[in-house]
Amino acid sequence: VVLKVGIIGTGNIGSDHARRLAWRVSGAEVSAVFDVDTARAQALAAEVGAVALGQATDVIDDPSVDAVVIASPGETHADLVLRTLAAAKPALCEKPLATTTDACLKILEAEADLGRRLIQVGFMRRYDSGYAAVKAALVDGSVGEPLLAHFVHRNAAVPDTFTTEMAMNDSLIHEFDVARWLFGQEIVAATVVPSRPSPLAWPHLRDPQLVLLHLADGGLVEAEVFVSCRYGYDVRCEVVGSTGVVLLETPTASAALRNGRRESPVPADWRVRFGAAYLVELQEWVDGVRRGVVSGPSAWDGYAATAVAESCVASLASGRAVEVGLVARPPLYA
Ligand SMILES: NC(=O)c1ccc[n+]([C@@H]2O[C@H](COP(=O)([O-])OP(=O)(O)OC[C@H]3O[C@@H](n4cnc5c(N)ncnc54)[C@H](O)[C@@H]3O)[C@@H](O)[C@H]2O)c1
Repeated sequence: VVLKVGIIGTGNIGSDHARRLAWRVSGAEVSAVFDVDTARAQALAAEVGAVALGQATDVIDDPSVDAVVIASPGETHADLVLRTLAAAKPALCEKPLATTTDACLKILEAEADLGRRLIQVGFMRRYDSGYAAVKAALVDGSVGEPLLAHFVHRNAAVPDTFTTEMAMNDSLIHEFDVARWLFGQEIVAATVVPSRPSPLAWPHLRDPQLVLLHLADGGLVEAEVFVSCRYGYDVRCEVVGSTGVVLLETPTASAALRNGRRESPVPADWRVRFGAAYLVELQEWVDGVRRGVVSGPSAWDGYAATAVAESCVASLASGRAVEVGLVARPPLYA
């Protein structure tokens, strides 16, 4: 049977996910949508053959909705995830799972009470072919023991509503998940050091910044975040192992050699860079949910990433390394 999906939040990524589910993912259709912007929700509903409902809870409780995609702003996620768990329906929640660790812990408790995993967090990099190849090289031991990593996260520009803290809980949250996933280690402390600001960054922003993540086994991950780099969207990762290095640069489909130069395009934004990863993420989520299995990034992964972001924001204020104090990992996420 086809999985009927309800979408909450029909902005950038909610609309993208709805179109992918309607036309590109097999075994799924979009049956209901909701957005506080009624006109936007109605336009998307007409496009993908769904109905626009009057409230988010109408989507969650609708009998024609088997599973929910939560793609509204981060502050709304926790309540919606808890409502979805109360209805015992699976949800793919865009990052962040919740904006505070306290809210994440309520979600972990609610899922533990149900005794099975229903929540997946939208950490789509795990489905990117480049990151998957890095993970495979670390798992097969071909570069020895992973010791440290260098990450880069650059955006061409951000709106003036973007804050210095958002570089941690909005942008680098993807790097926090990638670091935990690639190394198979929790991040136990974080230090943030803002650089001399770019003259092209918004005056209220500290941009770029460097973050040092300390892993439980003593490994280190150093991450640059620069959200006003102007030239494009550039995400990189280099893992240094005891016998070799695994390198992921921004992929290029083609290069032009002309006039004595070699030129290749830089993706404009995350939509271009990770378009294929979102499709794999959704297809695997739909395939799993149809079999009654949710196996992607878990509520625990969402909690751990939010906890690291909180420590980074505290480090930004204090200038010091700040510990990441996680609760004991519940057996559900073993
Ligand atoms: N995984 C990724 O790479 C990725 C990329 C982009 C965005 N995101 C995440 O997805 C979420 C949405 O981001 P976006 O870029 O699409 O933002 P957006 O602003 O384009 O869209 C958000 C939509 O939610 C609607 N909305 C606001 N309050 C709502 C509520 N209470 N209930 C329902 N709808 C509500 C808004 O009207 C808007 O249409 C954010 O959490 C963001 O961090 C993840």
